[in-house]
Amino acid sequence: MALVVIQFVIIVLVVFIAIFNVEAQRSRNKIQNYETKQQGQWSVTETNKGRAKKGELIFEDEFINFDLNTWQHEITAGGGGNWEFQLYHNNRSNSYVEYGKLYIKPTLTSDKYGESFLTSGILDLNGATPADSCTGAQWSGCRKEGSSVNIINPVMSARIRTVNSFSFKYGVVKVRAKLPAGDWLWPAIWLMPKNQQYGTWPASGEIDIMESRGNLNLRNARGLNIGPEQVGSTLHYGPFFPMNGWDKAHFEKNLLKDQGFDKNFHEYGLEWTPDHIKFLVDDEVIGTVAPTDKGGFWELGGFGNNVDNPWKYSENQKMAPFDQQFYLIMNLAVGGTNSYFQDNLPNSKKPWRNSSPLAALDFWNSRSDWLPTWDGENAALQVDYVRVWAL
Ligand SMILES: *[C@@H]1O[C@H](CO)[C@@H](O)[C@H](O)[C@H]1NC(C)=O
Repeated sequence: MALVVIQFVIIVLVVFIAIFNVEAQRSRNKIQNYETKQQGQWSVTETNKGRAKKGELIFEDEFINFDLNTWQHEITAGGGGNWEFQLYHNNRSNSYVEYGKLYIKPTLTSDKYGESFLTSGILDLNGATPADSCTGAQWSGCRKEGSSVNIINPVMSARIRTVNSFSFKYGVVKVRAKLPAGDWLWPAIWLMPKNQQYGTWPASGEIDIMESRGNLNLRNARGLNIGPEQVGSTLHYGPFFPMNGWDKAHFEKNLLKDQGFDKNFHEYGLEWTPDHIKFLVDDEVIGTVAPTDKGGFWELGGFGNNVDNPWKYSENQKMAPFDQQFYLIMNLAVGGTNSYFQDNLPNSKKPWRNSSPLAALDFWNSRSDWLPTWDGENAALQVDYVRVWAL
């Protein structure tokens, strides 16, 4: 009897092992097929529509018209998490295409709603249809009541994104743009993670291809122009806010005096591969980020052993969180209190302090200083094209 039981157990075991082997072989085949597909004509680049071919142009906008199927407007007064002074909405006074160029231009909220609206009005961005609904509720982004200390965002502007139309992982981005001149303007061309695979900001990363400041004569303590004669490129990454290793992945490029990025169109580039990220200005590499194979961005950021590494199960240990799909964003912000505009810069006459709860009010009250520096379309971020290629 015992022998029969043992025989039975052995048979069950053998069958089990056989099934397991078949399944293991099937998994191996699947991975092999996947890898074979990557070779030949196939690129490592993936988009929201699937795998791309090598060198394929996977996104292009020459701004012949303003395609709102491609670009979704953000609608929010949340201030980008930095208490910036603009609200974003979908209005052709702030974002439009003309003669093959995209313009993102700031206007005053008081021009539309009247000055008393800032201190006593109610801004309600909750829309009734998908196209006019608030897109960012955080930081009172959808509804604000103005008061004499908490004024409603005094500037209107635009921030557009491809979150619903186009995202990609790995590739080459080229954006030709002319940057705004005008005090406290803060234009940006950047990428954010589509699915936040590793958690909320900055765990899933942020790729800033270009940021700049509009103040023509803004200088740092060393006398270097940090206005439109300079652009910056940055990666943000870290286990959680405020742990962020951006300072190890930040680069700047200065042009010669009076030949700033606001004077002409320049091309801002990103080369993003499974191995490195490079930032380019007019085809010149201004910065390369290439973490080690094993250490990846965890090691680069120097985050230590006492916090959880959100990237430890990632498919690309070297590049995570930059091994997932990102989407494009372009915007024009104003001011804010996160120290992108620092207090105490020499001769800057900055009207607010970054620690002040009255920052927006102080900014607004000093408009006789900054408003004259906003000169029509010279205060606009102008974009000639956005092109993205697969590797
Ligand atoms: C767009 O903005 C302009 C200028 O502020 C304003 O006159 C116009 O009413 C706005 N259009 C819409 C549809 O809100």
